[in-house]
Order: sequence, then structure tokens, then C-alpha cells
Amino acid sequence: TRVALAFSGGLDTTICVPLLEEEYGYDDVIGVTVDVGQPASEFAEAKETAEALGLEHYVVDARAEFAQLCLEGVRANATYQGYPLGTALARPVIASKILEVAEEHGCTGIAHGCTGKGNDQLRFEAVWRDSDLEVIAPIRELGLTRTWEQEYAAEKGLPVEGGNEGDWSIDTNLWSRSVEGDKLEDPSYVPPEDIYEWTQEPTGETELIEIEFEEGYPVAVDGEAMDPVALIEHLNEVAGAHGVGRTDVMEDRMLGLKVRENYEHPAATTLLNAHESLEGLVLTQEERQFKQQVDQQWAQKGYEGLVDAPLVSALEGFIAETQKRVTGTVTIKFEGGQARPVARDSEYAAYSAAHASFDTETVGKIDQEDATGVAKYHGFQRRLANKSLEGEGES
Ligand code: ARG
Ligand code: SIN
Repeated sequence: TRVALAFSGGLDTTICVPLLEEEYGYDDVIGVTVDVGQPASEFAEAKETAEALGLEHYVVDARAEFAQLCLEGVRANATYQGYPLGTALARPVIASKILEVAEEHGCTGIAHGCTGKGNDQLRFEAVWRDSDLEVIAPIRELGLTRTWEQEYAAEKGLPVEGGNEGDWSIDTNLWSRSVEGDKLEDPSYVPPEDIYEWTQEPTGETELIEIEFEEGYPVAVDGEAMDPVALIEHLNEVAGAHGVGRTDVMEDRMLGLKVRENYEHPAATTLLNAHESLEGLVLTQEERQFKQQVDQQWAQKGYEGLVDAPLVSALEGFIAETQKRVTGTVTIKFEGGQARPVARDSEYAAYSAAHASFDTETVGKIDQEDATGVAKYHGFQRRLANKSLEGEGES
């Protein structure tokens, strides 16, 4: 009997290999690693560990698909408590690729190494439970602790020493790098500089870049057209060098537990800031107000790993309609760890300098006097209501 295991080569997924046989009776385990833009060192680790375990190992490239989903997140200005959802958006992509491999190879089971405390178990299983395969979560089901895992690995002589993580639990993909665990679990502990890999401490230097959007999708940087993967990788480098996109949040997980998370996401921060600034130029006031609610719902489903929910397609229907005019360019200034929009331009601007200017007189039949009547009515009910209370406290 065969089982497909979501495999990273880290401690959790490595000990799952013998456990799937010992505890679940699967004598044939295949490991699947999905490429969503992790650093090369992680694939090397997965490959080496798989070889040492004698594990049949598959690597599936899902970078293009994942990058496209991240850009849907940009159109939805998607963040959850300040975090642009890298891990969250990657999980359904990873889960469906593993399911495909499992089905191709005649597996009857499918397994992950997530704990019973986090979000990832829910995101993986939402996808896998659409199938008839047996879903297995050894770490959760056997109630394993990290210490137990380390002892078990040592006893069995499993290839887990080293690893690229050190003290922290790290999850990296194109869109964000997350660091948690160990001393960082104390919210009053100031993270040391060495938890960061993508971002440098701001140097005091500044830089301007221009991002071009077509219907809400970023398509070019400084006049150079790039596909989504290349564009995100490029911005991670440029913005990361300016220290852009660090967040340190107390995050409310789906199960209700709070967790302290540190993230780096230079490209995401840059693109989200730029996109929102362009929306500010082209969308009407009421579109922007309503879209905030739509965006918030999109981010919530993204966080839950449920981007294929019917609600999300409905939200995206609205989003697509608004994005027809989100075409143009935004200039971003990197400065002091910020990615600040400093200029924006679009042929769809819902803006008239002539009308808004303090310097022009009557334009298009609007002059200052027209506002007098509006000013008389503005706040009228509140005036009456407040007046009716006057003198009440005196008796
Ligand atoms: N809390 C984040 C999320 O649920 C990221 C968790 C990433 N995992 C890690 N081991 N750092 O999306
Ligand atoms: C885990 O608990 O397995 C990782 C973190 C998460 O899923 O939120």
C-alpha cells in the first residue's frame, strides 16, 4: 500500500516516513516536494534526506501557478493582520499538486507533517478531503512533540542533523518568508537581525522604481516586461535591499490561538502599496469603500486556504469589474524601509486637476459658490439632535 507524503526534508516530515509504515501500515512511501519558490538549499536538503531514507521523491514546479495566485492577492489588496498571505496562498497550490502525484501513482493515503496547533493542517486537508484518499497527519494524531521527534530520529539514525533552520521554524516561498518558534515565541523578545534573510537594515539610501499595471496585474518594472515569477523575484531583491516588508505580528490563527510571527515580504509590500495607490487614482469613492469589504473577505478566505470557495469567485467577479480601469504606472520610492508611492498615472483617472485645483476659477460649470447650499445642509440632523440635548444636564 502506497502513501504520498508532503515532504520537505525537515524533522517533521522525515520522521513521518518510518511512522507511516510502523503506525499506519503503509509499506511504500513516496515524498513530494512542491516548488513555490523556496531557496535552492531547501530542495538540496529534501533530495539528500530522501536519498538517505531511500525514499522515492518527486519535485513538482508550481511557481507560475503560485505567482499568479499572489497577483490575484494584489488585485484584492490582500493582507491578514498585516501579513500578505505567502504561506496561506501556497498551501492549496501545494496540496493539489501532491494530490495529483498521489493519484497518478496509485496511492491510497496522503500525509502531511503539520502539527495540530497550526493553520496548515486545515489548508492541506481542505483540498485532500475532496478526494477518497485516507488523510494522515502523524504529528497531530500521535501527539508528537519536538523533543520526542528528535529522540526518535536519533534512535532510528534518521538523517535530520543540520537542516537549514537552526533555531527557528521557517517557511519560505516567492511571496513571503515566515520565521517563528523558539525565543520568538516570547512576544516581548526583540528579534535579532539574523532572523532576516531577504531584507537588510535600511541604509539611508533611496531609490525610485516604476511599476506598470494592466487591469490590476503588475506587468513591468522600469519599462521591462516580466512574467509574474520573475517580477516578484526581482522586486524581492530590489526592495529587500532597502529593508522593505518586515512585519512582526501577533497573529490570530484559525483555531483561535494567537502566535507571534515575523515575516519578510519585500515584493508583496511594494506591489500592494503600488496597486492601492493606482486604485486611489482611478476608482470612485464608493467603489473604493465597497471594495475594502470585498478585499477583506478575499483575504480571510485566502488565510483559510479556501481560495476555491464559491464566495471567492463571486468576490473576484466584482474585483475584475473594478480592475478594468486599474491600468497605469506607479512610481515607488524606497526609503527608510518603506516602499512609498510617490507618483501615479493612468488614462482612466477619475480625477480632474482642473476641477480640484485651488488656482482655477469656474471649470465645466462648477464654481466655488455652488458648494454654499451643500454646506448649509451638511451635518443638519446632528445640529438639531445636539441642540435638543442642550440644557438637559442643568436641572
Ligand atoms: N502563520 C502563518 C500562516 O498561517 C505562517 C506559518 C508558517 N510556518 C512556519 N513554520 N513558519 O500563514
Ligand atoms: C504547523 O503548526 O504545522 C506550522 C504552522 C501552521 O500551520 O500555522
